[in-house]
Amino acid sequence: MTDTRKWALQGSPADGDSRAYRSALGRFATGVTVVTCRDAAGRPAGLTVNSFTSVSLDPALVLWCLERSSPSLNAFTTSGHFAINVLDADQRPLSDLFADPEADRFAGLAVEDGLGGVPLLPGCLARFECALHAVHDGGDHVILVGAVRRYAERPGNPLLYFSGEYRRVGG
Ligand SMILES: Cc1cc2nc3c(=O)[nH]c(=O)nc-3n(C[C@H](O)[C@H](O)[C@H](O)COP(=O)(O)O)c2cc1C
Repeated sequence: MTDTRKWALQGSPADGDSRAYRSALGRFATGVTVVTCRDAAGRPAGLTVNSFTSVSLDPALVLWCLERSSPSLNAFTTSGHFAINVLDADQRPLSDLFADPEADRFAGLAVEDGLGGVPLLPGCLARFECALHAVHDGGDHVILVGAVRRYAERPGNPLLYFSGEYRRVGG
């Protein structure tokens, strides 16, 4: 089959047009998660993340990427545990909350304590409780690899992210 559709945008990251590059990356549709942990002082930390992926089934390893400049970097690299909370289609407000640098993210949230005291968010589609397995260099991000210790899932639809916008399955 011949591909007759024209590219809307082409380039190289070396061109220096980071907006265009990010736009192309955004054509990869993902789910949305909130990754949580507790810092050494027991304070909850968490942020909205779509870089989550499964790495290995045996052993069960997953990864996600955290911006190096994040105020949460220390909490996640020293905590020893983290949880991936996979958001349901109705949880867009939680995604907005945990992506807002100014927000008091856990205020008024009824969290459960998971392994290592990690806060588990209510109402999620799935969750993966992990022991921190490795931290790798990822340029301006760090790559956090977790060994999955416990998981849970329930029926429902995922919150999706595509081209910089939230989507729902089928729309
Ligand atoms: C859909 C979505 C996905 C995101 N994915 C990531 C991610 O994978 N890694 C990351 O470091 N920030 C990601 N962010 C941005 C962070 O959620 C945002 O910068 C947040 O304020 C970071 O928390 P912090 O201030 O504790 O670092 C994402 C934001 C959105 C809306």
